[in-house]
Amino acid sequence: MNTPTSSHRARQTPASPIRKLQAAADAARGRGVRVNQLNIGQPDLPTPPEFLAIVRQFAEPVVAYAPSAGLPETISAWQRYFRRVGTDFSTDQIIVTTGGSEAIIFALLAVTDPGDEVLVFEPLYPNYVTFAQMAGITLRPIRLTLETGFRLPPAKVIAQQISRRTRAIIVCNPANPTGAVLSDDEQRALAEIARVHGLFIIADETYREIVFRGQPPRSFASIAEIQDRVILVDSVSKRFNCCGARIGCIASTNQAVIDAALKFAQGRLSSPTIEQMAVVPLLADSVRFTDSLVETYARRNGSLTAALKLIPSIRFAEPAGALYVMLSLPVDSSERFCQWLVESFHLDGETVALAPGPGFYVTSNLGHHEARIAYVLGEPALDRSAKILAAALEQYPGTTR
Ligand SMILES: Cc1ncc(COP(=O)(O)O)c(C=O)c1O
Repeated sequence: MNTPTSSHRARQTPASPIRKLQAAADAARGRGVRVNQLNIGQPDLPTPPEFLAIVRQFAEPVVAYAPSAGLPETISAWQRYFRRVGTDFSTDQIIVTTGGSEAIIFALLAVTDPGDEVLVFEPLYPNYVTFAQMAGITLRPIRLTLETGFRLPPAKVIAQQISRRTRAIIVCNPANPTGAVLSDDEQRALAEIARVHGLFIIADETYREIVFRGQPPRSFASIAEIQDRVILVDSVSKRFNCCGARIGCIASTNQAVIDAALKFAQGRLSSPTIEQMAVVPLLADSVRFTDSLVETYARRNGSLTAALKLIPSIRFAEPAGALYVMLSLPVDSSERFCQWLVESFHLDGETVALAPGPGFYVTSNLGHHEARIAYVLGEPALDRSAKILAAALEQYPGTTR
């Protein structure tokens, strides 16, 4: 009768746009349709045997909690890994987290109070919206467009979004969902804005090594002028193909941030013990794993973008990194189109799942003609997916050009 209901905060939290089509994709499979699942960033590549060997050989009688800040060997492995990529943290400036996701939550909770604001660039990684909702903060979006190749606008345009309540800028580099990689000038401009306006930079460098055009970017944590205000969030998920390991970290030379993150970490007790042990050899020998990974994504990117260029009605900005491309589609609604693709269309018994654009925006009227592809399948499947897309755009009742 008077069953209690969820909070306003909970009701305001959007469902994941990336996982939305899962039920329809499963139903299509049930009908015998092959679904190329390009909506979710779950790569098909194998997890390194070094990781699996440690999991399989675990022989302790008890799976005990790890220390809240992380196993000492895992923290040291992160520290040495960071040194290799040009950033220096002491071991007490690194906290192992349950995925990069938890690191972002800790970072937001460490620097904001309810009602505070954080700047983001849209299109954005949708879970930033979820985490902001959980923290009771407002994201102030700065729009990036396909026409400019998702380049940052001039500093004064970014600064216009800063208010009394702004505490931080979240920046994902290389970026999910656009595949854009910031130039050194753009990184410096953001660093300067953060310095002048007293903001933190929450640098999400989950895709750090995955760059296949131009120079790999430097870490925000290596920019001397903002050492005191960078909060680095990182993850083993994509870099080592072990998304389910749920291991990431938060690192900062700002003592107040690390003190806060440690208290949050103590509250949740521990990150997974066995998986922390299993990522140590991956972090220790990261280049060996990431070199071949980058080659794979470079090949996929080349093959997919070549196939997409054959579809004149689709526009996109060539990604320089990460494993995603944002498409501009000639459709009335990308939500409807993506649903229709999975529910009502197939080409020779095969279809494709894409992530509809609106979920990648904070601003409510944007993204309706866009969709994201994650190139998490091999070149033949990507090539077929581009052909399916071309045929679908011919048949979809809401195609606009
Ligand atoms: C930009 C970005 N940040 C963070 C994450 C979170 O990664 P995880 O929690 O698996 O470490 C992801 C995962 O897709 C991501 O794309």
